[in-house]
Amino acid sequence: MTPNGGAADPLLQVEEIHTHYGKSHILHGVSLNVGRGEVVGLLGRNGVGKSTTLKAIAGIVHPSAGRVLFEGRSITNLPAHRLARLGIGYVPEDRRIFPLLTVTENLRTGLDRHGVTTARKKELLDKSYGYFPVLAERRNQFGGTLSGGEQQMLAIARAMMLEPKIILLDEPTEGLMPRMVSQIRDIIGVLHRDGVAVLLVEQNVPLTLDAGQRIYIIEKGVVRHHAPAADLRADDAPIHRYMGV
Ligand SMILES: Nc1ncnc2c1ncn2[C@@H]1O[C@H](COP(=O)(O)OP(=O)(O)O)[C@@H](O)[C@H]1O
Ligand SMILES: [Mg+2]
Repeated sequence: MTPNGGAADPLLQVEEIHTHYGKSHILHGVSLNVGRGEVVGLLGRNGVGKSTTLKAIAGIVHPSAGRVLFEGRSITNLPAHRLARLGIGYVPEDRRIFPLLTVTENLRTGLDRHGVTTARKKELLDKSYGYFPVLAERRNQFGGTLSGGEQQMLAIARAMMLEPKIILLDEPTEGLMPRMVSQIRDIIGVLHRDGVAVLLVEQNVPLTLDAGQRIYIIEKGVVRHHAPAADLRADDAPIHRYMGV
């Protein structure tokens, strides 16, 4: 076991990161790690620093102290586009799909990179439409006309176009209808079967305990607890303690 739990050969290691927004000190030494192909949940109440943690990994927010390692090398302070190329997919809370591009055009923005052959692009698009039949049905519709759940799927599908080794998902089920929530759960299962690691930020505790292998609970900018999901399914006292639910 490494200091904050997890795999002996972690894909992603977050080591004691601190972040500030102006003078507000938000993260106070967050450490966590994610193994290859592992689904890890990050739980916590509103405003504790979950999104900030993902932004620090994705290169959107730069830590004032601490390090982020990916495949053993420091990626701290690399720009977001470099991180995407290294294999870190990021789906922010607001999804950022292009409302005036069609579904296919949205997906193609993830294929606009060197070294991807036309045949491979087609394969990736077909694979994505296989995973997300609703996107296939709507392939010529503008992104902005999709429902919230469909936009979330499109955002995840677009991140998958980059063939990432890990996807960071920020509250993918927030505000979605139960049917859509279960589809997002299925997609996390598909990513896992494909060997893609997932760092899942959620407020939906049952979904996170079901989808994740390991869980971190963050409170006021620090990780207060980490445990295998199975332990928290058997005894959810730490969830009550640190999330007040
Ligand atoms: N751009 C920002 N400027 C200033 N404060 C921010 C900014 N973004 C987030 N915060 C503050 O940082 C804290 C953590 O936010 P966040 O990481 O979004 O929490 P969570 O995702 O756990 O709800 C909150 O107190 C929030 O108000
Ligand atoms: Mg958030």
